[in-house]
Parts: sequence; structure tokens; C-alpha cells
Amino acid sequence: MSQLASIVLAAGLGTRMKSQIPKPLHRLCGQTMLNLVLSSLRPLGPDPQVVVVGQGAEQVRQSVSDPAVVFAVQEQQLGTGDAAKAARGALAEFEGDIVVTCGDIPLVRTETWERMLSEHHRQGAACTLVTAAFQNPQGYGRIIRHPADPDLVLRIAEEPRGEEVEIREGNVSVYCFRAEALWEALEEIRDDNLKGEYYLTDAVEILVSKGMKVAAVMVEEATEVIGINDRATLARAEAVLRSRINHRLMLDGVTMVDPATTYVDVGVEVGPDTILYPGTILRGETTVAEGCVIGPHVVVEDCHLGAGTVVKAGSVVRESVVGERVQIGPNAHVRDHSTLEEQVRVGTGSEVCRSRLGAGTKDLHFSYLGDATVGAGANIGAGAITCNYDGEKKNPTLIEDGAFVGSDAALIAPVTIGAGSFVAAGSVISKDVPPGALGVSRAAQRIKEGWAEKRTKKKS
Ligand code: UD1
Ligand code: CA
Repeated sequence: MSQLASIVLAAGLGTRMKSQIPKPLHRLCGQTMLNLVLSSLRPLGPDPQVVVVGQGAEQVRQSVSDPAVVFAVQEQQLGTGDAAKAARGALAEFEGDIVVTCGDIPLVRTETWERMLSEHHRQGAACTLVTAAFQNPQGYGRIIRHPADPDLVLRIAEEPRGEEVEIREGNVSVYCFRAEALWEALEEIRDDNLKGEYYLTDAVEILVSKGMKVAAVMVEEATEVIGINDRATLARAEAVLRSRINHRLMLDGVTMVDPATTYVDVGVEVGPDTILYPGTILRGETTVAEGCVIGPHVVVEDCHLGAGTVVKAGSVVRESVVGERVQIGPNAHVRDHSTLEEQVRVGTGSEVCRSRLGAGTKDLHFSYLGDATVGAGANIGAGAITCNYDGEKKNPTLIEDGAFVGSDAALIAPVTIGAGSFVAAGSVISKDVPPGALGVSRAAQRIKEGWAEKRTKKKS
């Protein structure tokens, strides 16, 4: 077994979120708080990694994809000290150091964990914790430093009184404990306080009273260690994470016209020389290759965009694969496992759903392609649509290479438009059009000479 284990406390109610969703499952930049906490810990290689669950336990378990994580259950939410105790069974065999934190502190950087661990070892401490100087420390336990040795902590004032209220250095709930010291302290924590809870923070005073050392490291930026208890803080924390993501992308060669209004989820990759205009939202499992131009006001979710692709204003592209030098929009909608091969153009107001468009195909104005397979070099005229739904099921349309579908044609699926064939504008096509043929179905035009004049006479 390794020398480091971790406990993440995530059993609490999260009352202040006023939510049906357990607090650790609220998201920042697409990731749950709990997954953000677990990924910040991962580089330290803790084993076991324990997550303490209680409220919404099943949902919380299911949200964690890392199979190495083990869960411990806190039946009743009696406080953070009691929650840490619930992890003991899962760590019965473990000897070494245990990092302890909460599922609502999602922005801690790996460097901070490492700084804490190295101070822990340097001091030979039983416990080392991370602190921050808060502008407004309300809601944070206050750090009472040792008067003789300011590197050490005497206790945490969870319910600060008198002058303690003025202390701006707060406990951020990021700790490292020697395993046996933690279990020993947890046995002695009592619930004789305002909330009637077992406070993990009391462990500090208990260890100090036994002659053990409690050390502390302070982070420079309090924003790194914000604890999220309500939606206002959730939004603040998300802004911090967003600016970290954007900063990294810009240093990697991405142009952001206005980073403050560019929203990129954790894990999204964007290649160099791509330009993101304001209001661009890149979500989920998305990769954008180099030299793309996206936005303004575009949503791309769970997509791959090839190099040199342009997604213009107001477009939404979801769950699709887009090749190189494709042009989409403005106001286009590409969705549900569609594929656009290289140099396809899907223009103003067009919708593509569960369809594949071959290389160089043009679909430039107000069309709908659903359940369609379109070959290369085809032309879909303005307003042409596949009638893919017969009221019961979805039917496929096949439009072969180089076919020309005239404006406002309605293709009633299932139907095939053969290679190099033409469909006349305004036709309703319910039978296959063979390769090279013309499919036309519309009333012949009549001309009534002088009709307008006769109409005027009739009125008077
Ligand atoms: C806690 C700290 C406080 C610190 C602050 C930093 C205690 C007593 N206080 O206060 O010193 O400044 O974090 O953000 O530890 N939880 C359980 N089971 C429980 C109670 C809580 O698992 O019975 C979990 C919650 O899910 C949450 C975490 O512990 O993730 C912290 O609980 P919370 O109520 O948010 O503590 P704070 O009041 O923020
Ligand atoms: Ca909290």
C-alpha cells in the first residue's frame, strides 16, 4: 500500500444550495465539484481514495467514474468529524498520511497539496492544514496560531468569539493527518457546540493537547480554496475556473477576443490559431483542431471540429464529427451523431440531424436533412427538406454523389436520389430518382395574359 491515502467528505446536505441535487454534483465548467476535487488529488497518487457519502449517496456514487475510488457511508450527518470517522473502515489497514478534504472545495491546485505535504514532512507534524487570508472570513473556522511559534497552529475557532472574529486567516478544510493521529483525535471529538455536531476542526486542539505538532501553509490567493455552500459562490468559483482554463488555452495559442465571455469546459481541447469570439460555449467532450474560427454566440457540445473549420454566429453543433475546412452557419443546427466531411458547407438556418454529408457538399440555406446520407459534391437547394418522419418512424434518404436537389424540394423518405441526378425545384419526390435523371413533380405553370387589368375592372 502507498504512503498516502485520501478522504473526501461528501455526505452533507448542502442545505444552502437549495437544491434537489446533492451538493458535490453541482457543476463548474461542466465537471462536478466532486470530480474536480478527485482530479486535483489524483496526481498525488493516494491509495485508497475514499469518498464519504450520505445524502444522495447513490447519485454521488454513480457520478464518479474513477473505479479506484471507494465509498464509505455516513448514515447520519453528524458533522465533519463524524464523516471522517466513517472512512475508518475503508482505511483500517492503512498506515501513513491521509489527506482529508471536502467535496465542496473544487479549485485546489495540485501544487498546493504538494506544498502542504512537504511542510507536513518538514515539520514532522501530526496534522498540517491549508489556510487562506479571507477578505471576509465569515463562515470559515479561524486559525489560532501558536504564540511562540507562528509556523504552528494551536486550534481552529469554529465558532469565533471576541477578538477571534477579527482573524482573517481561515481554515479551508484541506488537511493532511498521520493516520493514527487522526483516528485517535476523532475518538475524542465531542458535539458540545452550537450546532451539536462533531467538528473535524476540533482534532487540531486535541492533537496539540497531546503534545503533537499541527502545521499550516497559507495559499496566496484565497480564491483557490473557496468552499462552495451556495449558488452565488458557485458562480464565483466557476468564474475562477473559467479564467484558469482560458488563460491556459491562450498561452497554448488560442485567440480569445473576450475571455470573460468565452466558456470552455474542463477537458475541452482547442488547437493553436483558433479564434473564439465572444459568447462561444465549448462543452463536454469536445476537441477543436487548429485554425478554426468559432462564434460569436455559438454552442459546440461533444464534437470534434477539424482544422480550419468555421462555425458562424448563432449556430449549435452537438454530438457530431466535423471535418477540415467545413463552414457552418450562421444560425445552423448540426446534431445527433451527424458527420460533415471536409469542406462541407451548411449555411444559414440549415439543420442537419443524424446525417452524413460527403466532402464538398453544399447545403447553404434553410434546409432540413434528417436521417440522410449525402454523397460528395452534392448540392442541396434553399429550403429543401427530407421528410424523414412518417408519424411512426424515421426513414432514411440517400442522396448520391453530385446530385442536385432544387430549392424547396420535399424528399419523402425512404427515397434515393441517384448520383448526378437533378430534382426540380419545388418538387415533392416520393419515388427514387435514378442516376443522371431529372425528378420533377409539380403543376405546370399557366399564364393568363391581362389578368391583372381584368381583376381591377371587376372590383370597380
Ligand atoms: C467547514 C469547516 C470550516 C472551514 C470550511 C471551509 C468544519 C466543522 N468546519 O465548514 O472550519 O472553514 O469548511 O470550507 O469542518 N459533511 C459530511 N458529513 C457531515 C457534515 C458535512 O460529509 O455530517 C461534508 C459536506 O458534504 C461538505 C463538507 O463536509 O462537503 C463540509 O461541510 P460544510 O457543512 O460545508 O462545512 P462548513 O460549514 O463549510
Ligand atoms: Ca463548506
